[in-house]
Amino acid sequence: MADRTVRAPAPPAAPLVTSRSLDEYCELFGLTRAGIAALPGPLLDCPGGAAALVAEARPLGCRVVAADPVYARPAEEITARALAARAAMAAAMAARPDLYPARRQRRPEHYLRGWDRARLLFAADRAAHPGQYVAAALPRLPFADGTFALTLSGYLVFAYPELFGPERRLAALAELVRVTAPGGEVRIHPLNDGEGRRSTGLDAVRHALGERRISSEIRVLAPTDRGDRARRVLVLRRVGHHR
Ligand SMILES: C[S@@+](CC[C@H](N)C(=O)[O-])C[C@H]1O[C@@H](n2cnc3c(N)ncnc32)[C@H](O)[C@@H]1O
Repeated sequence: MADRTVRAPAPPAAPLVTSRSLDEYCELFGLTRAGIAALPGPLLDCPGGAAALVAEARPLGCRVVAADPVYARPAEEITARALAARAAMAAAMAARPDLYPARRQRRPEHYLRGWDRARLLFAADRAAHPGQYVAAALPRLPFADGTFALTLSGYLVFAYPELFGPERRLAALAELVRVTAPGGEVRIHPLNDGEGRRSTGLDAVRHALGERRISSEIRVLAPTDRGDRARRVLVLRRVGHHR
C-alpha cells in the first residue's frame, strides 16, 4: 500500500561557516589591500563567518567589524562548523569542478590550506578582540545609520535562496545600505545560488531597491587566473551619492 504519511518539509540547511583570507575577499569583491587601507571609515563584513578579514585588515590600519549570528555560539562550535565547511568545500570541488576556478581545481589542497590558516587567524583574533565580532542576523543589524565606509556581504543573500526569499532578501540588502555611509557602497557576491544558477530574482530586487532610492550596478570583475570565469558583484549606493 502506498505510504500516505504527510512529511514536513526538511528545514533549509544552515549556511556553511567558511574561512576565507583577506586575499580571497579581495579577489571576490574586486578590492586591493591598498584600497582597504585607504578607506575613510570602518568596513563591515556581514556575514563574517570564520574569515581572517578582521585580523588581516588590522595591520593595514583598517578597522573591520564582522557580524554573523554564529558569533553567539561557543568558539568550539564555530571551529567545528568551520571544519565541516572545509570538508564540504573539498567534496564540492571534487564533485562539481565546473563551479570552481581552474587554479583551485589544479591545487585544491593548497587552496584549502589557505582556509586552515584563515580559520586559525579568525579563532585567535576573535578571542583577543571579541568586540569586533558582533552576533547579529540580517535583515536586522545593531548598527547606527551610515556607520561603515564599505560593507561586504559574501555567500549569503543570493547563495541561500531558501533562507532569503524575495522579501527577506530585499530587507537584508536595504539594511546593509542603511548601515553604510551615504558616500560609501555595499558589495554583494555571488549573485548565483550554491549550484551556480543565476538568481532569478535579481532584476526584481534591483527594481525594488530603486524604489527605495538605492542605486544598483552589476560590476563584472575580470578573471584573475587562467580558466577562471568573470565574477559579478552587485554594488549598492544611496541615490545621489555616487563617488
Ligand atoms: C558561507 S558563509 C559566508 C561567510 C563569508 N562571508 C565568506 O564569504 O566566506 C555564510 C554565513 O552566513 C551566516 N548567516 C546565516 N544566517 C545569517 C543571517 N540571517 N544574517 C547574517 N549571517 C547569517 C552563517 O552563520 C555563515 O557564517
